[in-house]
Amino acid sequence: MEVHNVELVMSAVAPAQYPTTGYPEIALVGRSNVGKSSLTNVLINRKSYARTSSQPGKTQTLNFYNVEDQLYFVDVPGYGYAKVSRREREKWGKMIETYLSTRPQLKGVISLVDGRHAPSDDDIAMYNWLRYYEIPVLIVATKIDKVARGKWNKSESLIKKTLNFSEPDKFLLFSAQTKMGKDQVWQWIERRMED
Ligand code: GTP
Ligand code: MG
Repeated sequence: MEVHNVELVMSAVAPAQYPTTGYPEIALVGRSNVGKSSLTNVLINRKSYARTSSQPGKTQTLNFYNVEDQLYFVDVPGYGYAKVSRREREKWGKMIETYLSTRPQLKGVISLVDGRHAPSDDDIAMYNWLRYYEIPVLIVATKIDKVARGKWNKSESLIKKTLNFSEPDKFLLFSAQTKMGKDQVWQWIERRMED
């Protein structure tokens, strides 16, 4: 999709605030600082539309981005950030779980993992959870520009093995810096929108 118009329509914490337009939705999940906002910006051809920061845990609400009046990207706050209180973490968990398990418009989830490391326990738990709810998943291993090209295959195998990854889910290597993988992410999204 060639994107020209994007608008942040809603920062929601509860279902009453979700948009009512009915467009298909693609959610982005992953630990704090993994690069969800950066991926969003690459997909919509903007430098800094979705807020990126070196400060983990910045995104606290479900942010719905209206893309070309055709779909929403839902930027989900990052998990695994140690500095938030337990109470806040529980609140966060409920908000995400409610959204991901009850939203009919949700067509798929892009689950980001750090391409440099084995997935964390939180990454594994998230993937198992998405599988349990039978939500189509695209695993995106990001920051791959920081991994030497000769090690890309090894990174892919390690991530797939650690997650116990299986079809029909998809896997891609990505970099927000070089935009590697951008077209393939879009292809996956467009296929998901047709379902
Ligand atoms: P939260 O909103 O806190 O959950 O973080 P996020 O997942 O949205 O991460 P964000 O996109 O803000 O990126 C975090 C940091 O990683 C920023 O400094 C980005 O510039 C950097 N970053 C993201 N993607 C890439 C990438 O593909 N390559 C490199 N080298 N840096 C990246
Ligand atoms: Mg973010």
